[in-house]
Amino acid sequence: MTETPPFTVLADDTAYAEAVQLAVDSAAAYYADGTSTLDDDAYDRLVRGIQAYEEAHPEAVLPSSPTGKVAGGAVVGDVPHTVPMLSLDNVFGAEQLADWAASLERRLGRPVAAWSVEPKLDGLAISARYRHGRLAQLVTRGDGSAGEDVSHAIGTIVGLPDRLADAVTVELRGEVMMTASQFEEACAKRQAHDGTTFANPRSAAAGTLRAQDRPYVCELTFFAYGVLPSSDDGSDLAVRLRELPHSQIMDWVAAQGVQTTAATPVAGIVADSVERVQERVEEIAAVRAELPFGIDGIVIKCDLAADQAEAGFSSRAPRWAIAYKLPATEKITKLLAVEWNVGRTGVIAPRAVLEPVELDGSIVTYATLHNVADITRRGLMLGDSVTVYKAGDVIPRVEAPVVHLRTGDERPIEIPQVCTECGGAIDKSQERWRCVRGRGCRAIASIVYAVGRDQLDIEGLAENRITQMLDADLITDFADLFFLTREQLLGLERMGETSTDNLLAAIEQAKGRPLSRVFCALGVRGTGRSMSRRIARHFGSMQAIRAADAMAIQAVEGIGPEKAPVVVAELVELAALIDKLVKAGVTMTEPGWTPPAEPGAAQADGAFELPLAGMSVVVTGAMSGALEALSRSQMNELIERAGGKASSSVSAKTSLLVAGDKAGSKRAKAESLGVRIVDPEEFATQISAFL
Ligand code: IVH
Repeated sequence: MTETPPFTVLADDTAYAEAVQLAVDSAAAYYADGTSTLDDDAYDRLVRGIQAYEEAHPEAVLPSSPTGKVAGGAVVGDVPHTVPMLSLDNVFGAEQLADWAASLERRLGRPVAAWSVEPKLDGLAISARYRHGRLAQLVTRGDGSAGEDVSHAIGTIVGLPDRLADAVTVELRGEVMMTASQFEEACAKRQAHDGTTFANPRSAAAGTLRAQDRPYVCELTFFAYGVLPSSDDGSDLAVRLRELPHSQIMDWVAAQGVQTTAATPVAGIVADSVERVQERVEEIAAVRAELPFGIDGIVIKCDLAADQAEAGFSSRAPRWAIAYKLPATEKITKLLAVEWNVGRTGVIAPRAVLEPVELDGSIVTYATLHNVADITRRGLMLGDSVTVYKAGDVIPRVEAPVVHLRTGDERPIEIPQVCTECGGAIDKSQERWRCVRGRGCRAIASIVYAVGRDQLDIEGLAENRITQMLDADLITDFADLFFLTREQLLGLERMGETSTDNLLAAIEQAKGRPLSRVFCALGVRGTGRSMSRRIARHFGSMQAIRAADAMAIQAVEGIGPEKAPVVVAELVELAALIDKLVKAGVTMTEPGWTPPAEPGAAQADGAFELPLAGMSVVVTGAMSGALEALSRSQMNELIERAGGKASSSVSAKTSLLVAGDKAGSKRAKAESLGVRIVDPEEFATQISAFL
């Protein structure tokens, strides 16, 4: 676990005054639009330094100091909060947690019998006011005593319904954030609109929540973590809620149709000892990198209402709760170089080479830089200190240069004038620069991708072999592979009879791959493995996909109005390649698909008779028998091919758990929820047609 970060040592009153100014500016920017020149760690260190200086020099304390103030004193908004929206005090390790718990128990004069342990969601606090069951107003935290009205965002926040199950008057408190996929979608929308991008999910959520006149809408997510019953409710609800333990209040919130973390892998639990709290902290920390949303710590609360009431509040934070901070997902490091890579579709993308930095449990050396316009707009220079973000599923990204850390030795970033792959011209008509040769520029990369494990899976066809074939003019794209003759292959250097026959057999086998993989092999922009599966399952045949216009493509889950026309245009561009594949006899349908009545018409969803249709399936433990060699990703693909939805965590919504050897907590959870459990052998029989 993490230890207390060292604090910034301030030498004199001038250094102190500068530190206060920096912290105030940084907090103001953070609470205004989620941007800041300081990362969370640096801000924490700075405020601790200010605090230490103030303790030693009480006479020097400036009124503008951020210490002891909610939101570092940044003031936003004019809607008064019914009850102040406070902050939380922090601990940074097991020892500090134990000390905090012990001092709280001393204050109460008794042990705390029930601790609630839940994730600290990394978004923005919001108050959602419901009147008679209808969502009436949304207010940001602001300075804690008054916030900004952001009711315009109602209807765009997943997990925050317009109506509650009961016609009650309550105020919900929780966190508004962007999941990794919402963030990617939001960045793509913003890129398409003005070429810019969001720095990280938190600032994207902050900007989106406040934005009123954007021409595009980005989806947000809400998780509740508390309730303030209103005395205006007219029922005894307020009294009942005030007496319930926090964990049961959260159950009540979920029953009202509001999202809580209950269905996530980091669901809140009640622990009966500080040791168990620490264990749960470690469990949550261990799965953090795989979560589809950001967390920056764990919140530990007294679960019982009586303990909370007695512990009370300090001016800044409740005494009955504490935030156990996890290592930062945003840090400052040095930008050492910029590399230019040409992707499969000819897009020329800059990539930052960084001084290695640990983020969310892994060492980050490379990060995405989006595009040239973005580099220019941000004024990035080589040698700059930059803020870098990485958490969960989000690809590491350079956010911004930290201008005040410049030394004068920084150098401009050289922007390529010709394609860095083939030396050809660059099409600069759009923000994303492309080689004018498009896909042709990266024939090798396109073919390597197409024959890869998750696509056509042609065993024994390595990159050097593909280069040989391209150089010998035997192929120009991956469809040509299906027309290769034995003689042509034998004519290649280092190609014996056995390797030739093996390769021909592997190519023949690849003709039988399902449509989802054939479609994936095409490398259509914006469609990876799971999107290809969705498209293939939605339409059933290549013919139906090609017949679809942008509106029809948009009916596929996850394809919005920006992506749909791109898919249509790409398919037009790929027409000759697809025709060649059809001619070669490559499979153009998805298993379980039956031709629709109207030629070319899309197969309606659900018309498949697939064994796992409508089922949510989780896999755990070691696979055996026919499934032994399958990776988790291949298992997930298999589940989706057979009509199911693959999920990584067990919840009440899980239909089936495939549990192999050494299945641990997921099996136990499935048992406790009464979820059906099968072993890998039984599962293999059930879906044998799809193996
Ligand atoms: S309880 C009186 N629970 O963390 C404050 N807060 O650093 C009680 N947060 O302002 C807050 N996840 O925005 C609570 N499970 C959780 C939380 C959580 C995230 C945020 C909240 C709060 C901030 C304090």
